[in-house]
Amino acid sequence: MNVAEFCERYAVERKGTNSLKWDALDVRFGDPDLVAAWVADMEFKAPEAVLDALHQRIAHGVFGYSFVPESFYGAFIDWEKSRHGYEVKKEWMRFSTGVVTALYWFVNAFTKPDDAVLILTPVYYPFHNAVKDTGRKLVTCELVNENGTYQIDFDGFEKSIVDNDVKLFIHCSPHNPVGRVWTEEELKKILSICNKHNVLVVSDEIHQDLVMEGHNHIPSAIVNNGEFADRLITVTAPSKTFNLAGLLTSFIIIENEQLRSEFDAYVKTVNQTEVNILGLAAAEAAYRHGQEWLDGLNAVIRHNYEHVKQHLNEKAPGIIISPLEGTYLIWLDLRNVIDREKTKEFIQDRCRIAVDFGEWFSAEGKGFIRLNMATEPRFVELAVENILANLEK
Ligand SMILES: Cc1ncc(COP(=O)(O)O)c(C=O)c1O
Repeated sequence: MNVAEFCERYAVERKGTNSLKWDALDVRFGDPDLVAAWVADMEFKAPEAVLDALHQRIAHGVFGYSFVPESFYGAFIDWEKSRHGYEVKKEWMRFSTGVVTALYWFVNAFTKPDDAVLILTPVYYPFHNAVKDTGRKLVTCELVNENGTYQIDFDGFEKSIVDNDVKLFIHCSPHNPVGRVWTEEELKKILSICNKHNVLVVSDEIHQDLVMEGHNHIPSAIVNNGEFADRLITVTAPSKTFNLAGLLTSFIIIENEQLRSEFDAYVKTVNQTEVNILGLAAAEAAYRHGQEWLDGLNAVIRHNYEHVKQHLNEKAPGIIISPLEGTYLIWLDLRNVIDREKTKEFIQDRCRIAVDFGEWFSAEGKGFIRLNMATEPRFVELAVENILANLEK
């Protein structure tokens, strides 16, 4: 399916549907008329198979308590194996109403108040919140920015662990917002360091399926033939991949039995909710039948990213665009063209775009913005046009 076909089939107006992205612009940005390029969801309907599965459930008309059917496990396990080479066992799986919710659970379950938790910044801001809101000590290690390409400072990473007696590391793989898909070598290095210092790893792999050609997402749990799986928790979901975030269904994978029972004991104290009947129906259908849709979506993301690159590189070469290896979020460094203190005034008030601002992701992020590419090309074209027109003024 090419870009035009995908958009023709799936693009949809979201205004007027209680969409956080579009209908909360006034509350979040103080202006209802911006082009919404911020929060990570899309203007695309889910695959037909997902809608069919939901329609079937709805036609039945009963939404009582449910449990996870064998057929769901089959679909998820097949997807992980065929797409990512990860052979997940059913008994390793747990469920939550969101990846972010699960991050809070992990922090509470596996650390004590004032324990140190490490993140690689700039990173998705709920990572910061999950540590701060739970009264833990937030330790950040800044990724090294080499002209837009981000690398891990392995010495700094290890030093942060040792100096702060870090207990837990929350990893973002692929990485939001810098767009890196970590290589096996990189993963091996950080996981070995964590192993050496007995640091538990949580690997947030929610963007696992949104990977550009030429890159390969490697689940942390299978790095070096699973060497690190015993001190590792993976959390993922169909919500980014298939635009299902509002169905509040995400998955936790814990291989180690002891870790799993510690997790279960903690979760019993905060969660007594069964699974979401619609969320699981949607997820199962997506993992079983969503392949072609996902290929179409990835083509749209690539197309939009190439558009931004081509036009900004040509007409505003001072803007540094980080290479998009994975996720559908691009990270732009505007500091060569705009006074960093005026980023908001420029992007929001003049260019009329709602973005995620760099300082949400890192104290050093001022002057950067994150733009969402999982949308119709016309929105991306408009954003680029507005940026270029206002730079000229
Ligand atoms: C890295 C990462 N984790 C988690 C989430 C959100 O997950 P959920 O909606 O399941 O809490 C996002 C959303 O953008 C994300 O980028």
